[in-house]
Parts: sequence; C-alpha cells; structure tokens
Amino acid sequence: MTKGPLDGRVAIVTGGSRGIGAAIAALLAEDGAAVVVSGRDADRLQRTTKELEAQGGAILGVVADAAIRQDAERLVDAAKQRFGRVDILVNNAGIVRDDLLVRMKDEDWDRVMEVNLRGTFLMTRATTKLMIRRKSGGRVINIASTSGAMGNAGQANYSAAKAGLIGFTKAAARELAHWFILVNAVAPGLIETDMTAAISPEAREGLLAQVPLRRIGTPREVAEVVRFLAGDAAAYITGQVFHVNGGLYM
Ligand code: NAI
Repeated sequence: MTKGPLDGRVAIVTGGSRGIGAAIAALLAEDGAAVVVSGRDADRLQRTTKELEAQGGAILGVVADAAIRQDAERLVDAAKQRFGRVDILVNNAGIVRDDLLVRMKDEDWDRVMEVNLRGTFLMTRATTKLMIRRKSGGRVINIASTSGAMGNAGQANYSAAKAGLIGFTKAAARELAHWFILVNAVAPGLIETDMTAAISPEAREGLLAQVPLRRIGTPREVAEVVRFLAGDAAAYITGQVFHVNGGLYM
C-alpha cells in the first residue's frame, strides 16, 4: 500500500457499522489508519469489517454498546491489544427517539442521553487516559448535530444531548490541550442514512426547503471533515464545531 497521511495511527469509530460511522471508518482507513469499529449488531459489524478489509485497511470490529462503561473500556482495551495505541477517537454512535415533549417517555429521554452524551463521555475518558499515559497527543471528534445548535421540534431529548456534546467538546478541549489532545465536534444537518430514512416524504420536502443547497448530504461529505480533523493539517484547531449542513444552520 502507498503511504497515507495517517499511516501508523490507530482510530476508534463508535457506531461504525453503517451510515456516517462506516463512511468515516473508510476514509480514515484510506488515509492509512488502522481502524477499530464498534457496533451492537455482530452480523452487520462483520459485514462492514469485511468490506473495509477488502479495500486494504487494517480493521478490527468489536461488538460494544457505547452507553455501557464496561463495553467502552473493553473496546479501548481491544484497540490497544491489537494495535498498541489509540490516536483518534470518533464518537459517532447515536440514536433518536423522537416525540413531542409533552408525550415524551422518561425512557426515551434517558436512552438518548445515555447513548449520545454519556457514551461519548465514557469513550473519551477511557481513550484519553491512554493518550495521556503515552504522551503522544491525539484527536477526539464528536459527531453532534444541527439539532444541538438550533433545536428541532419533536427532538427535545436529541437536541439536548447534542447541545450537551458541544459543551462537552469545548470543556474537554480546554482540559486536554495540555496533553496535545485536540477535541472538536462535527455537526451534520440532514444526511442520507438509516436514521433519516424513516422521515416521511412530506417532512423531508419541508426540511429540504430550509436547506439553501436544496439537497440532502451524503455520509462521505461528513466523513471528509472528520478525516481533515484527524490529520496533521488540523493541528491548530481545538474546541470547534464544524457544521456540515448545506447551509441549514449558519
Ligand atoms: P445510523 O442510525 O445509520 O447509524 C448509527 C450507528 O450507531 C449504527 O452503526 C448503530 O449501530 C450505532 N449505534 C447506535 N446506538 C449504539 C450504541 N448504544 N452503541 C454502539 N453503537 C450504537 O445513523 P447515522 O445517521 O449514521 O448517525 C451517525 C451519527 O451522526 C449519530 O451520532 C447521529 O446522531 C449523527 N447525525 C446524523 C444525522 C443524519 O441526518 N443522518 C444528522 C446529524 C447528526
């Protein structure tokens, strides 16, 4: 294989078995990183791992629930055991449980917080401990959402969790700068994945009418920004939120 800009680096991508996470894993692998991909569905994960390997990447799939502390720690351990280090963490695992605020169930609030926000905290803690010990610096990239910046009706739980991620990103960036660990967020708008496939055609038209570029985005268009933030060209960027949304929120 030819030399890539991330050769010798190791990345973890949570929820990397499909959608935006799979696109991120593919681009990091294309740049030469060894990539550890997590997900909950073993079959789906195995299929993605095989596809990424077929493209020439060094890939490890680990079944892990991002919201469970033991799973997060096991995932980081597995990365360390197989590849010896972790340089890049992409907190991508996320879910929606939409409902109107007055009808929202406690468990839908809690689960969205657990996966999107607590999961990111657990993974960041476990990974940056390792980065600090190695004194080798690192990158943490959190996948937020336009909903976290502008709010979205029917998504009080998700908007709160993603807004929380943005605050978390900035606090972690300040704390971890001392160790040359850079922490940023990427906030996608409407992107074509399983998550948005459930939106009705009418609702989709309504949303697209608010997007100045008048189209839905692709997972790759989000992954390109993550690839940039993971690389050497982004060495002076920390605590920032990068919006990839066709102009939906400015
Ligand atoms: P998706 O539903 O296609 O994929 C989500 C991935 O996360 C899947 O691989 C799933 O298995 C994994 N996942 C979910 N819960 C998990 C858990 N507890 N532990 C481990 N893995 C888990 O969604 P998509 O669209 O690819 O979303 C990726 C990220 O981008 C999420 O954080 C989402 O909130 C965010 N996002 C997506 C947007 C979109 O329009 N698709 C817009 C803004 C943000």
